[in-house]
Amino acid sequence: MVENRHGSAQDPPADIEGKASIGILTEADKSERRVALVPGSVAQLTKSGLEVRVQSGAGAAAGFPDEAYASHGAHVVSRDHALASDVLLGVRALGTEDPPDPGTVDALRPGHVVIGLARPLDAPEAVRLLADRGVALFALELLPRITRAQSMDVLSSQATVAGYKAVLLAADRLPKMFPLLTTAAGTVTPARVLVIGAGVAGLQAIATAHRLGAVVQGYDIRPAAAEQIASLGGRVVELPVEAGEAEGAGGYARAMDEAFYARQRELLTPIVAGCDVLICTAMVPGSPAPKLVPGEAVERMAPGSIVVDLAAPQGGNCERTVPDLEVSVGGALVLGPTNLPSTVPMHASQMFSKNVANFVDVLAHEGRIVIDPQDEIVAATLVASGGRVVLPAVAERLREPVSAEEGRP
Ligand SMILES: NC(=O)c1ccc[n+]([C@@H]2O[C@H](COP(=O)([O-])OP(=O)(O)OC[C@H]3O[C@@H](n4cnc5c(N)ncnc54)[C@H](O)[C@@H]3O)[C@@H](O)[C@H]2O)c1
Repeated sequence: MVENRHGSAQDPPADIEGKASIGILTEADKSERRVALVPGSVAQLTKSGLEVRVQSGAGAAAGFPDEAYASHGAHVVSRDHALASDVLLGVRALGTEDPPDPGTVDALRPGHVVIGLARPLDAPEAVRLLADRGVALFALELLPRITRAQSMDVLSSQATVAGYKAVLLAADRLPKMFPLLTTAAGTVTPARVLVIGAGVAGLQAIATAHRLGAVVQGYDIRPAAAEQIASLGGRVVELPVEAGEAEGAGGYARAMDEAFYARQRELLTPIVAGCDVLICTAMVPGSPAPKLVPGEAVERMAPGSIVVDLAAPQGGNCERTVPDLEVSVGGALVLGPTNLPSTVPMHASQMFSKNVANFVDVLAHEGRIVIDPQDEIVAATLVASGGRVVLPAVAERLREPVSAEEGRP
C-alpha cells in the first residue's frame, strides 16, 4: 500500500499480502556498474515489512550475484515483475536517465514511487516526464544537510569514492611515483598534488594522495575547510581574496561573481603550474562549476602532469576540461570523468545501498509506504507528486506555476 498525503491514497501496482514492494532494476545506462541496493541491505527493508524484488542480474556488474540477493531474502524476478513494484529504487532514478528508456517510462503509472539521483535542477524535463506519469519522484541529491539525513547522504558517500579514485587515476597516469624514495639508485622526489575544492571529494583526495606519499596542497573558498585540509596532512593554500560570504546554506559554497573567479584564476595559475597533479572538485549546487583553472595554467605544468576534473559533470573547473574525454594541453593531460563511483562499483553500491535503505525507512510504516510532506526529509526531496512538479526550484526552471498550497521552500 502506498499512501500519498500529497494526493490521495493509491493502490499499489501489485500488492502481495498487503506489503509494499521495493523493486531494484538493472540500471538503464549500460556504462553504469552500480546497483541501488546490495544483498546486505535487503534485511533492513524486509524487517520494515517490505517485500524486495530484484531484477535478475541487476547486481552482477557490481559483484553481487542473484544468489546473494535470494539468500538475504529478496525475490529475484524478471524486469517486468520488478517494474511492477510499488517503489522503484535506482542509482539514477528510473525514467530520468539521459535519454530515458521508453519501455521503462511507459511502465510507470500513478502509485509508483521512484527514488534515486534525478538531477532535478540540471535536467528538469525528466521530472516533468515523471510528473506526467503520475509518479511520486524523490531526488536524493536534494536531501537536506541535517543530522537526521546524514546516513542517507548519497552525494557524500559517492563523492568519497570519486575523490579516492581520482587520485588513483592520476597516480596511474603520472610518469612519476607519488612518494619520496631514497634508494641506492638515487633519490626520487615526491609528486606535488594540488586539490582545489576541499569538500567531501576533495578531502578524500587529499587523504588518499597523502597516504600515497605525495606532497599535497588543498584550497577551498570556505574558510572552515582550512582546518580539515591540514588535519589530513595537506598544506593549506591561502589566496588574498575576500571570501567572507563564501559559505551558504547547508555548508555549501555560494556562487561568486565573475570578477571574483577571474581573481581566483589569476592567483591559482602559478600554483597550478608548479604541480604534477591537479584534482579539481569545486562545485556550487544548482550552478555551473566555477572556472578556476585557465588553460594557460595547465600549459605551464611540467610535461606528463595530470589534471583530474571531478567538476566535469557541471562543466569543469578547468577551462580545457571536456566531460568524459582526455584532452592534451601542452605536455599535460586533462581528464574529465563524470562517473568515477561506477568504476568502484562494489563499495560505491554498498554505500549507496545503505543510504537508500535508510531513506526508505523514513517512508516505511509497518509494511506500507507513507508519503508525508510534513516530514522535512520528504519535503526536501519530493519533486513530483500527484501529476505535478511540486518543488518550486524545479517548477521555476520549467517555467511552471507552483500552487500556494504546496507550501514548499
Ligand atoms: N550532513 C551534513 O551536514 C553534510 C553532509 C555532507 C557535506 N557537508 C559539508 O558540506 C561542505 C561541502 O560539501 P560538498 O563536498 O558536498 O560540496 P560541493 O561538492 O558542492 O563542493 C565541493 C567544494 O568546492 C568548494 N568550492 C566551491 N566554489 C569554490 C571556489 N570558487 N573556490 C574554491 N572552492 C570552491 C566548496 O566550498 C566545497 O568544499 C563540506 O564542508 C562538507 O563537510 C555537510
